[in-house]
Amino acid sequence: LPSYLRVYKNTFLSTYMVTYMPEYEKLKCRDDDVYVMSYPKCGTTWMQAIVWLVMNDADVAFQGGSKALDELFPMLEWPFNSKDMAEFGKLKKLPECPDWEARPSPRLFKTHLNFQLLPTEIVERTKTPKIVYVSRNPKDTAVSFYHFIKGFDSSLFGVHNDFANSTFPEFYKYYMQGKCDYGEYWAHQVDFWERRHWKNILFVKYEDMKKDLKGEVRRVANFLGKNLSEEKIDKIVEATTFSSMKRNNTVNYTGMKAGRTQDATPFMRKGVAGDWKNYFTAEMSDNMDAVTQQKFADSGLQHEYE
Ligand code: A3P
Repeated sequence: LPSYLRVYKNTFLSTYMVTYMPEYEKLKCRDDDVYVMSYPKCGTTWMQAIVWLVMNDADVAFQGGSKALDELFPMLEWPFNSKDMAEFGKLKKLPECPDWEARPSPRLFKTHLNFQLLPTEIVERTKTPKIVYVSRNPKDTAVSFYHFIKGFDSSLFGVHNDFANSTFPEFYKYYMQGKCDYGEYWAHQVDFWERRHWKNILFVKYEDMKKDLKGEVRRVANFLGKNLSEEKIDKIVEATTFSSMKRNNTVNYTGMKAGRTQDATPFMRKGVAGDWKNYFTAEMSDNMDAVTQQKFADSGLQHEYE
């Protein structure tokens, strides 16, 4: 097991996350909170940018603005904004997080937690914040995760990054067993997919965003109750293409040097469907197909792979 992981209620989480879990579970939610939820590397940042722009009337100040996405969009798992990055060693407790509870509605959050670990009010449906869930095929997600974790500067957490020098086949073994942050990929997807008919959940696929970004942006806007003009939808689309986001320091995490090693792959790496073919052997691919078939079969969930 990677040394920075712990088991919390049957899910592998980073050590620092485990210390926060009791507080997250008790989080006071609001019906008008908006969440972007996902398994890591499924297109979270992309969806955060879209949701932020939809909620802020396609405000282009977003591009090249002085604020980082983290600041505009607190992450449930990292309860601090980008200015606090330097303080990784002494993470603030949730109640002390800048304006967390006082922040006016609608508040925007992001989390990678699986369904079971969400705030109790969400799980028990006593509160129904809006949830946009992004899903991506398991193969591209694995490749993206591999590059991300390899370049992660874990020394900031006082732990060793067991994957720093790993090859993709090595990482793959752990991924298949759900031995990475936020646990198993498949269970994470299915738990949200099975609740996709809930009024407060929108299930979006990365591959659909690649094929028809405008259509998916419109779906998100409708779900969030925003009636945006054609012109504004177009503006959002233009600002959230891969090339725009790669150039945009608000969202490309270049400011997040503290969390990445010097030679890390850029956060905005390739942004395509199908890069897995450059990393998977035929055997690995067949093996993952079989697992996916078995774990998704009854649910009807399917992804495109290129
Ligand atoms: P790759 O590593 O395959 O390039 P997350 O935000 O959940 O960590 O996901 C990161 C992945 O989403 C990366 O995938 C990144 O390049 C991709 N991504 C981010 N913004 C994107 C965009 N506008 N269009 C396409 N892919 C994007």
